[in-house]
Amino acid sequence: MVGLGPGAAAWRTPEVDQLLRRATDLVGYQTYLDMVEPGPPGQRRHPSDNRQEAGRAAAALDLAAGGRSVAVVSSGDPGVFAMAAAVMEQLARADAPPAWADVEVTVAPGITAAQAAAARAGAPLGHDFAVVSLSDNLKPWPVVERRLEAAAGADFVLALYNPVSRHRPWQLRRALEIVGRHRSGATPVVVGRDVGRPAEDVRVVGLAELDVSLVDMRTVLVIGSTTTTVVRRPGRAAQVYTPRSYPADRGSPSDAG
Ligand SMILES: C[S@@+](CC[C@H](N)C(=O)[O-])C[C@H]1O[C@@H](n2cnc3c(N)ncnc32)[C@H](O)[C@@H]1O
Repeated sequence: MVGLGPGAAAWRTPEVDQLLRRATDLVGYQTYLDMVEPGPPGQRRHPSDNRQEAGRAAAALDLAAGGRSVAVVSSGDPGVFAMAAAVMEQLARADAPPAWADVEVTVAPGITAAQAAAARAGAPLGHDFAVVSLSDNLKPWPVVERRLEAAAGADFVLALYNPVSRHRPWQLRRALEIVGRHRSGATPVVVGRDVGRPAEDVRVVGLAELDVSLVDMRTVLVIGSTTTTVVRRPGRAAQVYTPRSYPADRGSPSDAG
């Protein structure tokens, strides 16, 4: 399982480049396969729909069990809301085909979207942070709300993945309402769209002025904690950081905000 990083070739690890070159087969969602340069002659590509995770993982294991060297590609890090867990889930099946027992499975990490957006904007992940996917395709929405409430109440910086899709238009507004109970409207938010790709757009806005119509499936949000600070210098874009130390008088996070 290999992580391509957010998009830019310079943000892909040498290990991943090497595994991609050595693979006889690449398996993944078409959009991610398109991020990989053409490989050696004879290398085969197996594109699939983004929703067919289990089938894609099983197909990759079948290929590997048949002696192929298979790279299952994900964007960012393969272990963050991506294929590595899907492959492990298949391996753990009680009815897993015996042939899979001989398949060696390794994970090659990549830079995840939150790290990429954070790097572009400064250092908002400098202190404790929580990472939450707003997608309720694979978990019930009340679970998302409970986690947001807990993480926002505990004053974590929040990285939100899968914030909006055509089929999930209202979840982001609801999430912002929950976070807004624990944060002031001036809290800095990094809105990172297509980070590390040609269409990259990274902005820092206040929580109250966040325009949800600018947010889509190719966007990751990093919402500051109560200590996240904006750095403004003349002639330069605003940057943000979260200090390494936490003020002693904020000992009760539920009172913060
Ligand atoms: C299914 S998750 C995959 C995450 C990926 N494995 C990672 O580690 O970044 C897809 C979500 O990741 C975020 N994302 C992935 N790549 C991104 C990029 N280049 N710029 C902004 N957000 C990105 C978006 O929130 C998107 O909806």
